[in-house]
Amino acid sequence: MFPKDFLWGAASAAYQVEGAWNIDGKQPSIWDEWTKIPGKTFEGTNGDIAADHYHKFEEDVALMKEMGLKTYRFSISWTRILNDGKVNQKGLDFYHNLIDTLIKNDIEPMITLYHWDLPKKLQDTYGGWESTRIIEDFLAYAKVCFDAFHTKVKYWIVMNEPNIFTYQGYVLGVHPPGDVNQMALFLKTFHHTALVHAHTVLLYKNGGYNNKGMIGSSIALTPGIARSESPKDKVALDRYMELNFNWYTDIYFKGTYPKWAWNYYQEQGMIDFEISSQDNDTLKQAASLTDFIGINYYQSTMIADNPYEDGVGVKMFNTDGKKREFEESGIPGLFKHVENPNVEYTDWNWVVDPAGLTHTLRLLKEAYNLPIVISENGLGAFDQVVDGKIHDDYRIDFIEKHIHATKAAIDEGVEVLAYCVWSFTDLLSWLNGYQKRYGFVYIDFEDPNLPRIKKDSFYWYQKLIASQTE
Ligand code: BG6
Repeated sequence: MFPKDFLWGAASAAYQVEGAWNIDGKQPSIWDEWTKIPGKTFEGTNGDIAADHYHKFEEDVALMKEMGLKTYRFSISWTRILNDGKVNQKGLDFYHNLIDTLIKNDIEPMITLYHWDLPKKLQDTYGGWESTRIIEDFLAYAKVCFDAFHTKVKYWIVMNEPNIFTYQGYVLGVHPPGDVNQMALFLKTFHHTALVHAHTVLLYKNGGYNNKGMIGSSIALTPGIARSESPKDKVALDRYMELNFNWYTDIYFKGTYPKWAWNYYQEQGMIDFEISSQDNDTLKQAASLTDFIGINYYQSTMIADNPYEDGVGVKMFNTDGKKREFEESGIPGLFKHVENPNVEYTDWNWVVDPAGLTHTLRLLKEAYNLPIVISENGLGAFDQVVDGKIHDDYRIDFIEKHIHATKAAIDEGVEVLAYCVWSFTDLLSWLNGYQKRYGFVYIDFEDPNLPRIKKDSFYWYQKLIASQTE
């Protein structure tokens, strides 16, 4: 059994579900612009309408209630509630209504402040995350959210996957602003997210908002497994973990960067920012006040040695769901991702590895000893409607195994507060369109009424929650 007060949840993000992209005073975000540029997303899909959660939230919350969900994690759209620095009351009203409806139905709201939809204006004016000017603007936005909702909302996630949106925006070029191979900008923008997280934690803790609430940030974590016991593969694993795991978690949850990685990036001439002693204090103080680590876990990766001469470099990932031969990728001289013969892969070539979740939870407990919120975990798949039903046994199997993996970590003493399946309803996958489905609730995106149909996984999760909370 899980703890009685365990938060069985599901998650979403504003741009991926809300729709209503330009109504009631909402201003454009960088994603409103990016998705309209031909060739940027799968078949040109965008979030203009998405799941139309903006208009259908009552129906969606009724489904959550029916399911017995304990928490719903969603993000606030910055450009819906702030318009050129002025509060947009209609936008605030939407979130008040959503939060009130959740609370009325005994569902704990869990808010993400930033899930990638930066105001376009800030990108245009000073490059968004590229400038430290973002700190002041973000704090003004966070303050509006805290002022409005702190008495109703206990769980706050400042950043969603800051490691992903900066890497994809400045190295792979597949997220806005679409720069390629700009390692220095990637590291700098990521650093700015850490500063923003830290300042926001301090604002929350010192601003009189801390009404028994908890605040953290969610990092996408993909733990590595060495391909063999050979010293070369083990060193490769250590380097992968320093650069792709500890680099992200240490600065958020300890307030410092890991040494080897810092020296490596510095030798490569990739560190184009300074950490003043004031920043250092802010980062450390915030790390000591952060209440939980949020993790989004989808997969692990097998790591092997990657020679400097003729080593493989960075590769783009699968966004069309046509499963293909595994393609190795990595950093020459450090490590590479190789095919794992012991696991299955999804249609989008994502590794299915529940044990990787237990491993991640253990590593985090060991390194930071903080409670953990699993803010995302789920399976993106093609679902078929057969006679009005969706038999997604593959999703049930995936979630069930990851819940067992979570329990294994809890039994070893890791404090896990919540498990949020990505996602509650089907929604827009940023780069993979509407065909990559994650939800417990199917949405027919071809039908203008966007009807909702409960999948088999809906009933399964409903039973599971009931059995755990009776
Ligand atoms: C996470 C994001 O990266 O994974 C979500 O926080 C996203 O917003 C989810 O949708 C699944 O990724 P994808 O690319 O399959 O949609």
